[in-house]
Amino acid sequence: MVKPCLQVELAGVKLENPLMNASGILGLTSYSLARLAEAGLGALVTKSVGLKPRPGSPNPTVVEVPGGLVNSMGLPNPGLEAFKSEVEEALSKIGKPLFVSVFGFSPGEYGEAVRKLSRLPVAGFELNVSCPHVGGVGEIGGSPEALREAVKGARASTGKPLFVKLSPNLTSFAEAARVAEEAGADGIVATNTVRSMVIDLEAERPLLAGVYGGLSGAALKPVAIRCVYEAYETVKIPVVGCGGIFTWRDAVEYFMAGASAVQVGTAIAYRGLEVFRDILSGLSAYLEAKGLDDLSRLVGVAHKR
Ligand code: DHB
Repeated sequence: MVKPCLQVELAGVKLENPLMNASGILGLTSYSLARLAEAGLGALVTKSVGLKPRPGSPNPTVVEVPGGLVNSMGLPNPGLEAFKSEVEEALSKIGKPLFVSVFGFSPGEYGEAVRKLSRLPVAGFELNVSCPHVGGVGEIGGSPEALREAVKGARASTGKPLFVKLSPNLTSFAEAARVAEEAGADGIVATNTVRSMVIDLEAERPLLAGVYGGLSGAALKPVAIRCVYEAYETVKIPVVGCGGIFTWRDAVEYFMAGASAVQVGTAIAYRGLEVFRDILSGLSAYLEAKGLDDLSRLVGVAHKR
């Protein structure tokens, strides 16, 4: 049999394979984006950028827990203007579709940020409406009205694909996905991290300087798989899976739940950039062993009754 086809098309963007990095991992500088591009990914996502520069939270910002990491970076970023030149430089090197992740403290800031970035030759945008601990950002994805306004504003600012990254900390993930689709989103990213906390026994206070953080890694996977499954049953736009993907088996689980592509984050910290080539070769071997010629044949199969 010929090698199975791993290419995917996401909202009109062609990816040579379904792997992306999760926003926040190695995506803040042109140097780190170029390193990611060499690791064999189908598309890249930047760390989230906002209108104004932010220094981020003081240390400690990350703590390991059984099953994952809890991080509270505090959305550090150089602000839109400085970031634009970083992205321009990255685009000259990477030769892959690049999505810029943006965050805002009010619905209107999403449209403004996307408009200010709209001249860049990027593939599209990912709206981070779901940071679990920086006050004001997660609240946007948590309110149907604010979510609708943020997505509509971004929609009015660009004709390029808009992905909306939602939180697993919602009463109804499916409902939020539906609101995002109605407001003009081209895809859903499921999911961002789970709002969480670790207590320092000696200090007798929360360990992270930012107090709350986002849980990522293996513990997030069953939660995010459930979100992908619910979104797939609810919306027609593609769903991108994200949360605890370390191996090709994890990725296959996401495709079966309904993901068209997947993002890898925490595994990069544990397994290095080789994780992408490992997952890709495992995926190819799996499809070949199953006699499947195209990855798309796996998408959503868990929904068959
Ligand atoms: C941060 C932002 C996120 O969206 C997230 O899931 C975890 C951490 C941050 O920059 O603090």
